[in-house]
Amino acid sequence: MKGCLVVSMYVVEGGRTLNGEVRVQGSKNSTLPILAASLLCRGESVLLNCPRLSDVEASLTILRYIGCTARREGDTVIVDTTGVTRSDIPSALMHKMRSSIIFLGAMIARCDRVRMSFPGGCELGPRPIDLHLNALREMGVRINEEHGELDCSISDRLHGANIALTIPSVGATENIMIAAATAEGTTIISNAAREPEITDLADYLIACGAKISGAGESTVIIDGVRRLRPAVHAIIPDRIVAATLMAASAVTGSAIRFTGIIPSHLDSVIPVFRECGCDIQRTPEGLSFRSPDRLRSPRLIRTMPYPGFPTDAQAPLMSVASVADGLTVFVENMFESRYSHVSELCRLGADIRVEGRVAVVDGVRRLLSAHVRARDLRGAAALVVAALCARGKSRIDGIEYLERGYEDFEQVLSSLGADIRKV
Ligand code: EPZ
Repeated sequence: MKGCLVVSMYVVEGGRTLNGEVRVQGSKNSTLPILAASLLCRGESVLLNCPRLSDVEASLTILRYIGCTARREGDTVIVDTTGVTRSDIPSALMHKMRSSIIFLGAMIARCDRVRMSFPGGCELGPRPIDLHLNALREMGVRINEEHGELDCSISDRLHGANIALTIPSVGATENIMIAAATAEGTTIISNAAREPEITDLADYLIACGAKISGAGESTVIIDGVRRLRPAVHAIIPDRIVAATLMAASAVTGSAIRFTGIIPSHLDSVIPVFRECGCDIQRTPEGLSFRSPDRLRSPRLIRTMPYPGFPTDAQAPLMSVASVADGLTVFVENMFESRYSHVSELCRLGADIRVEGRVAVVDGVRRLLSAHVRARDLRGAAALVVAALCARGKSRIDGIEYLERGYEDFEQVLSSLGADIRKV
């Protein structure tokens, strides 16, 4: 019998108010580079607060493929990288998770070589890696790009370099930091990405014995050391999941409390919700979030590198703008096609027009249920947020995208009172 493709969808009955307390999961975009960086040490690294996500599982599969062992005990993942025996990552594993490019620097630093297929583009448009490759070449890596394969090797040791990034790329900054940690000499990264996930990666590497200063700032300095030893590290909370749950509260007129959250990581998101009329207060455990009956439009949202407004929160905030009173202009500066959720939000009754990187949202009073399809991770989250306040029963296809970055999302929302089922 032909293998049947198991597709699952969410069924959401909109209109329910949420309430209660939610503990935010560990950060996907911190976990992935730290799992790659664990290759720099020989032995067992222990990662606490590690979210259960398909992208994390994909990373563990890559680690096991090259000879590591990895196991999960609740929210803790233990990786033993003693026995690395391979230096290739098969294309099937590469394409399972676009961000597996983050293994490039770690594999070269550990194995002196790596072969992997060029990471595919993704739903957000082409995902170039020129900044990664140029930087590694400056550190002494020979890189052959043929037939869609990357074949990288170093003659003697990786050596430090002064690298100025033309774009503060998160992934490039991470690959360079990882490759530089045990390289010979000093590496200086100018115009480095400043995301909290960069700082978390640096904290893990420093716990392993790396010498890194300036992480989280635009200039990062790494003094290479000969050897790193494994460490225990707690992953920071996921600021984008927190922003998504705030959006869910905002559109349903709800009041919920957040724990396990670092409010300062949301310094560019919280003001937007306040502009919509939400009341957000710090509490000893984290934040309390109370939404108005009628949201005001946030008017202008421009995505920027951290500490600016995060591109990953653009889609969920568009669902908020869709039911806010007034016009909101979005400018997506980070990716060239990150509006795949717009057509689906319009099927739910939103009034949105897109022109290039600009989307103009005219808030409507109510959304109406529909059968919609997700096409990327944060777009899927935006559709769930919108369905929570759409009158009637909505169906959302493509939730495998959502499961890449949101741990037990339907359980989290159900525990807050939402009527959401996975079928
Ligand atoms: C990271 O992707 C995140 N992924 C993305 O989150 C996030 O949207 C992005 O940073 C921006 O914050 C992970 O951390 C796993 P970039 P990354 O390199 O590193 C261009 C999610 O939803 N660029 O900072 O790939 C690139 O095309 C995901 O969790 C080059 O031109 O992003 C983009 O326009 C989606 N050449 C811009 O820079 C390069 O060599 C920023 O990309 C690299 C990037």
